[in-house]
Order: sequence, then C-alpha cells, then structure tokens
Amino acid sequence: MTNNTDTPVTVIGLGLMGQALARAFLKAGHPTTVWNRTTSKADQLAAEGARLAPTVGDALKAGSLTIICVTDYQAVHEVLDATEVSLEGTTLINLTSSDSAHAREAAQWAEQHGAQYLDGAIMAIPSTIGTAEAVILHSGPQPHFEAHKSTLDALGTVAYLGADYGLASLYDVAGLAMMWSVLNAWLQGTALLRTAGVDAATYASFAQQMAAGVAEWLPGYAEQIDAGSFPAEVSALETDARAMAHLIEESNAAGVNTELPKLINVMADRSIAAGHGGEQYPVLIEEFGKPSNA
Ligand SMILES: NC(=O)c1ccc[n+]([C@@H]2O[C@H](COP(=O)([O-])OP(=O)(O)OC[C@H]3O[C@@H](n4cnc5c(N)ncnc54)[C@H](OP(=O)(O)O)[C@@H]3O)[C@@H](O)[C@H]2O)c1
Repeated sequence: MTNNTDTPVTVIGLGLMGQALARAFLKAGHPTTVWNRTTSKADQLAAEGARLAPTVGDALKAGSLTIICVTDYQAVHEVLDATEVSLEGTTLINLTSSDSAHAREAAQWAEQHGAQYLDGAIMAIPSTIGTAEAVILHSGPQPHFEAHKSTLDALGTVAYLGADYGLASLYDVAGLAMMWSVLNAWLQGTALLRTAGVDAATYASFAQQMAAGVAEWLPGYAEQIDAGSFPAEVSALETDARAMAHLIEESNAAGVNTELPKLINVMADRSIAAGHGGEQYPVLIEEFGKPSNA
C-alpha cells in the first residue's frame, strides 16, 4: 500500500470539482500533476504548486494514480481516447458522474487499454473536498482501492462498495432518490401548514424529528425485505393507505398540490389489490422492484 504523502497523483479535469480534488492532494503534500482542456483553469493550482502537464499522455505518465473528473463519460472518452494516450501501468479512478452501465463499459474499455480501473461517485460539493464531510464512493477490484486508499484519504471520507464497477453510480442515484423524497415530503407538509399560517422554519424542526424517527425504522424494515416476509408488526398496509387518503383529502381541501400524495397512494392501492393489504409497508418493495408498466 502507498501510504506516504510523496505519492504522485494526476488529476485530469479542472472544473469546479477537479480543482477541489487537485487542491486537496496538494494540501496533503502529494506531488500533483494536472491537465485540463482549457489550460487557464490550472493557473491558480500551478501557483499553489501543481505541475501543468502539456498533454494528457504526459499527465498519465507522471505517476501510477490518475483521477479523472469531467462533465460526463463522453468527455472522458474524448480526453482518453486520443491516439497518443497510453493507460498502461495507471490506476485510473473515474469520479465523473454517470450511470452503472456507463461505469461498467468504461471499466472494460480502460482495462483493454492497460489501465487498472475504479469507478467512483462524489457525494459532496467542492468546498467540502478534503474534509471528512466529503464522502467519495468507489467500486471495482478491491486490491486497486486498497493500494491507493491512503492517498485517496486526502479527498475526504473514502468508501469501498464492492467489485461491481456499477455500484458507485447505483449508490449515487439511490442517495439522490432518498434526498429528493425527503425534500418533497417536507415541501408537501410545509405547503399544507402554510395554509394555517405556520411558517416553514417552525415546521422544519418538527419535520426533522419525523425524518430522523422514520430513518430509525430502516434496518428493521430491511430485514423484512431481505427475508421476503412482511408480518404487520406495527401497522398493516391498508391502515397506511387510509392515512394516505387523509393526506390527499387534506391537501385537496387546503388547495395545495396532490400529485405527490396520489403517487404514494397509487402504489399502495396496487399492492393491496394484489392481496398485500394485511402486510407491513415494506411489502411495497415488490411494486418498486417492477418496471413501471408491468
Ligand atoms: N460540482 C459539484 O458540486 C459536483 C458534485 C458531485 C459530483 N460532481 C461531478 O463532477 C464532475 C465534474 O463536475 P464539475 O462541477 O467540476 O463541472 P464543471 O465545473 O462544469 O467542469 C467540467 C470539466 O469537464 C471538462 N470537459 C467537459 N467536456 C470536455 C471535453 N469534451 N473534453 C475535455 N474536457 C471536457 C471541462 O473542461 P474545460 O474547463 O476545458 O471546459 C471541465 O474541466 C461531473 O460529472 C459532476 O456531476 C460535481
């Protein structure tokens, strides 16, 4: 394992995120080589001690670890598919956001070109990079991750998810599903309470407690999903569905949007129609696990 700050690192792509990544390596003391299509974006980093490589090929040769973070995977290919570029002997960590299919395809492509590949996802904003708050997910062969973990630690809280290259992207979008669902539920409640003169800040602290309380249920519900058995230990789905109807009625009566409550209710009704009304809420995984039109 490389475990000292002398380990050279290359960062390709110096947008908002790439600059933050390169800066974190520099701050940790790593000799840092950078490359960007628009070279002026390297000026500040060069003043801070980074070396601007004249070509991508030169940047790749600077060390055995290369991070690439550009807009999308098409840009990754445009940068790395140039004829003069060799990936032989490089561990390439692709922190560009995408989906699992692109991640698996990029892994195959990079390995065919001689690289050791890891895919990654950044669950953070640029200003937090280099702090524990920045969570960076990795997937692919574990030995590649372990070999560079102590260098990657300079970026924040780095995590390894498993050998499937697509896992980092899947966790990324699963996290987004969580984020938007919590935010939308909070906005629905805020819209309802504002009709009674309660301001968003007042409701926010109650909503925070609700969200934290519901989060406590996840491990137990996950056990039911993994076991494929959904005894109604707390409440039955049909009880939840009656409460959903109240939410829709209340939203209608208050003159606020009902799209979200109806969406929630539609899946529960379908599950009840399929005979699951007496089971517990996580039985809905069977609805979530199907294509939308099935
Ligand atoms: N910013 C965030 O908060 C954040 C958070 C999590 C994940 N991410 C992910 O990080 C990645 C980069 O985001 P960013 O915020 O750094 O974006 P950005 O500021 O828009 O930078 C985009 C980078 O991609 C390069 N690029 C785009 N197309 C290219 C091409 N065809 N050939 C060569 N280089 C190309 C740009 O080069 P030029 O400078 O020459 O245009 C620039 O370095 C994205 O996948 C994003 O989803 C960002």
